[in-house]
Amino acid sequence: MADILVTSESGALIIDGKAASAAVLDEVAKGAAELIAAGIRPGLAVVLVGEDPASQVYVKSKGKAAETCGFHSVQHTLPVETPQADLIALVQKLNSDPAIHGILVQLPLPKHIDSQLVLETIAPAKDVDGFHPVNAGLLAIGDRKRALVPCTPAGSLILLQKAMDALGRPIAGCDAVVVGRSNIVGKPMAQLLLAESATVTIAHSRTKDLASVVKRADIVVAAVGIPEMIKGDWIKKGAVVIDVGINRVAGEGLNAKGEPKTRLVGDVDFAGAVKHAAAITPVPGGVGPMTICMLMSNTLTAARRAKG
Ligand code: GUN
Repeated sequence: MADILVTSESGALIIDGKAASAAVLDEVAKGAAELIAAGIRPGLAVVLVGEDPASQVYVKSKGKAAETCGFHSVQHTLPVETPQADLIALVQKLNSDPAIHGILVQLPLPKHIDSQLVLETIAPAKDVDGFHPVNAGLLAIGDRKRALVPCTPAGSLILLQKAMDALGRPIAGCDAVVVGRSNIVGKPMAQLLLAESATVTIAHSRTKDLASVVKRADIVVAAVGIPEMIKGDWIKKGAVVIDVGINRVAGEGLNAKGEPKTRLVGDVDFAGAVKHAAAITPVPGGVGPMTICMLMSNTLTAARRAKG
């Protein structure tokens, strides 16, 4: 298996999310094979409404990963004008389908649909995104045994733990700053860090003097969705940086089709931060690949729980 941590020129450890994700997928495939031998095939249903190109790419990769893990994998693709009631009816049908252990409704949904209502229709035990208020609540009370945890923060925690283990440091007692307060990443990430006994600060767009808040952090998790907003010189010497951002920005020159080139950057100025950090995730190839493997892991967990 490829090394998950590689030392950069500056001496910082670069955390390889692709290698970490491959290792998780390997474990999930083994777990699925055991469950299949016991008579249960984990089943994942992914629902896509409309034709958003980015969503189509995500949904396709989710289906592919499910098949690689040996899961029963189904995709429901509905037209953009699908009435909300029809989508709810489909979710209810999947809730009562014993062959399906995990349900994911790809976001964003078309504007005429109340996303929160749809997410709250998914049975909490099948909510492999971990977005249902029951799962958010279970995470908030520290009950990871019963919760399904949102995939991106769960994957980010794995990368953080790998780095901290390699550095010989516990997460407990660290000052952790999460920049971003979304329900999908920021808030659940803060809960996970708190459960690991870090001292957690959630910073956001209204935080006063963000630079000085980030400068005191031993652990920085950036999930704001603003390209390279966290500057390199905000990073304390020896901090561990987990960059959840994936932002497409203008690159230099033209591609083979004569169109302006683009490139992906994180929420952290990587070139600057790598000079100060003890460990850091790159973009792309850091947190990104972890989301899908944690979705597979949640589906396996849901199937195991269904078996009892
Ligand atoms: N759209 C972008 N990311 C996600 C995700 O993690 N889950 C769902 N359901 N939709 C998304």
